[in-house]
Amino acid sequence: KIQPIILAGGTGSRLWPLSRELYPKQLLNLIDETSLLQTTVLRVAQLTEVLPPLLVVGEEHRFITRSQVDCLGGGGVCDILLEPVGRNTAPAVCGAVEYCAVSLPEDTILLVLPADHLILRKAVFQEVVAEAVRLAVEGKIVTFGIEPQHPETGYGYIEKGEGSSVRSFREKPDYETAKSYLEKGNYLWNSGMFAFSIKTFREEMERLAPEMVSCMRESVLLGKRDGSFFRLDEAAMSRSPSDSIDYALMEKTDRAAVVAADLDWSDIGSWHALWEVSAKDKDGNVTKGDVILEDTKNCLIRSEDTLVATVGLEDILVVETSDAVLVAPLSRAQDVKKIVARLKKDS
Ligand code: GDD
Ligand code: MG
Repeated sequence: KIQPIILAGGTGSRLWPLSRELYPKQLLNLIDETSLLQTTVLRVAQLTEVLPPLLVVGEEHRFITRSQVDCLGGGGVCDILLEPVGRNTAPAVCGAVEYCAVSLPEDTILLVLPADHLILRKAVFQEVVAEAVRLAVEGKIVTFGIEPQHPETGYGYIEKGEGSSVRSFREKPDYETAKSYLEKGNYLWNSGMFAFSIKTFREEMERLAPEMVSCMRESVLLGKRDGSFFRLDEAAMSRSPSDSIDYALMEKTDRAAVVAADLDWSDIGSWHALWEVSAKDKDGNVTKGDVILEDTKNCLIRSEDTLVATVGLEDILVVETSDAVLVAPLSRAQDVKKIVARLKKDS
């Protein structure tokens, strides 16, 4: 059986002002009336031989997460692991693995999924997961590789070897390096999904990050059930080093494997990315809410609260919420994180 682990602890700051610390990207209805987290839960429910997913979330998001999952009805059964402190993805996964190891056999295959991604090809998802599970059973740490489109510096890069083997893994290279990878042609983007057995993950992490493993093991041992939640122990987790799974494990392990995954995938990292993947009107506009557009082309216009009207705009994004409005060229969508950084500094 496969045990899915869904990571839902990020903030998605580039989707400000819609995405907020208390209401992050994965909990928003960005594409339709279902949040990315809900879509992820439904996606894994379609797999065969699958257990209900384990969600890993920051403590502050526990009630929104619970209610979003509960309203999915039968498809929404899951356990929720709460992080009292954020320590990035490596401790989050490590805690989840230790939690699973308490009740599941060591050869159980875990499927780690980010809660905030879009996958349009659902049938392909099922196929690549089946392939990944086969490799994970053989003791591999399996990544899902996406054909790269441009020299993105926010992603990890997987250097392919023969078959499913991985020559190297490089997280967030600089622009020049990313460009050279694209030119070489034997690199894939890391989608951020992983598959491995409990046994393989533990062996590798004990070797590569023993301190993290012992802190997270303790935080599960001392953790407490709280209604339908399980809260990791705060003191123990606070002692854990902070790192991402990509740096802590993927860059260092020699047991990595890759499955090429033609998923029509997006991590919706910015307003521009959302515009790209969304359905457009005949003028190339993506709209939501109460909007009137006149002579407006290739724009993303969203209203949450009041009527938004535009005249003569091209390639612009306007996002209106009850307490903030963002206006920018779609091409500058990455820079929204600078606003968030300034707001944080001032608060
Ligand atoms: N529970 C929990 N706790 N989840 C977390 C935490 C945490 O502390 N930090 C991040 N997450 C979740 C995010 O919500 C997201 O779903 C996922 O883990 C990945 O974290 P990001 O912070 O979004 O990572 P990234 O985008 O910089 O990079 C990762 O994803 C890329 C693809 O989108 C890496 O895996 C890259 O290699 C990859 O290319
Ligand atoms: Mg991300």
